[in-house]
Amino acid sequence: MIGSETESEEVPKTFQVIYSTMIHWTRLIAGGLVLPIVFPWLVYTLYKSHFKNKIFRDKSLEDKVVLITGASSGLGEALAHAFHRAGARVILAARRKDALEKVKNDLITKYQSKNTPAVLPLDLHDLKAIKEKATKALDFYGHIDILINNGGVSFRGEIVDTDLEVDLRIMVTNYFGPVALTKAILPSMLERNSGYIIAISSVQGKIAIPFRSAYSASKHATQAFFDTLKSELSHTNIHVCVVSPGYVHTNLSLNAVTARGETYGVMDHTTATGMDPNEAAESIIIATAAKRSELVLAGILPKIAIWVRVLCSWLYFYLMGSRAQRIRAANTIKQD
Ligand SMILES: NC(=O)c1ccc[n+]([C@@H]2O[C@H](COP(=O)([O-])OP(=O)(O)OC[C@H]3O[C@@H](n4cnc5c(N)ncnc54)[C@H](OP(=O)(O)O)[C@@H]3O)[C@@H](O)[C@H]2O)c1
Repeated sequence: MIGSETESEEVPKTFQVIYSTMIHWTRLIAGGLVLPIVFPWLVYTLYKSHFKNKIFRDKSLEDKVVLITGASSGLGEALAHAFHRAGARVILAARRKDALEKVKNDLITKYQSKNTPAVLPLDLHDLKAIKEKATKALDFYGHIDILINNGGVSFRGEIVDTDLEVDLRIMVTNYFGPVALTKAILPSMLERNSGYIIAISSVQGKIAIPFRSAYSASKHATQAFFDTLKSELSHTNIHVCVVSPGYVHTNLSLNAVTARGETYGVMDHTTATGMDPNEAAESIIIATAAKRSELVLAGILPKIAIWVRVLCSWLYFYLMGSRAQRIRAANTIKQD
């Protein structure tokens, strides 16, 4: 009798142990997930929906005048859709007038808006003409609220083979062009003490990778210039934001320039599998409504790489050296 009573007591005891172990692990896992993953995710989702509401319900971007360079394709085109849909008055700028007209017609057909997009043919490489183009842009509505320096070109090649002309071309289009345009628009923003300037840089503006020298250099310069501008304007109501995307699925690699100044013409795998430009544009418009000063639009690996470059440079250079050797061995300097 006594023996059987002990046995029957042991069964609930075993259950109790299993039960408390399960509770312990559930708490541990839930705590481990909720705090570092679910909580930040929740905060980010609320943050996004707050600013989305601001844009679409409170119409905070309604009638804002937005000049977008590189609006004829890719990310610039997606930004044109996002801002026009939000009720802004967009000015579409790039070299190809026919492509800009097509974007303009798409916007008119796709969305109901009282505002008609304006088209401004502009070559960022033609520095002498930029002041006049800025005046034309200002003439459309009398001012510019948001300037998005997005137009740009990429590069594929090895430094030793690259003509200096190519370095200059990339640097003028990606750096001096946006600098000249910003300088031409800035006085009118200062006069009104209002404005938002966005520079579309790149993750490669924070870390340099092999066989992208001219591009990466132009984006590092962009980061530095607009960081400086941000601090110099800190006493005003003009805000500056540097956006650093990772790979975005656009024609950037197709339009890239090679070491000899030719068009690369290849859709890289990394670009083809990159972020959807509309998704990137949505994050940028939310950042605009939030007046953010920095946005890294990339996955966890590029973000880790940025930190490794800062905190452990020898490891970063080791990894980039291996990458360069791998690409060289596979003879895909142009393909990767
Ligand atoms: N795609 C990516 O993976 C990625 C990643 C990081 C950063 N970005 C940056 O995002 C921006 C947009 O590029 P995208 O990816 O959308 O590539 P894209 O589809 O090739 O678009 C580039 C845009 O820049 C314009 N452009 C090029 N040269 C110009 C010039 N001399 N003057 C005026 N406009 C010029 C092009 O228009 P026209 O040919 O009509 O002039 C085009 O609208 C670039 O600054 C790029 O560096 C892209």
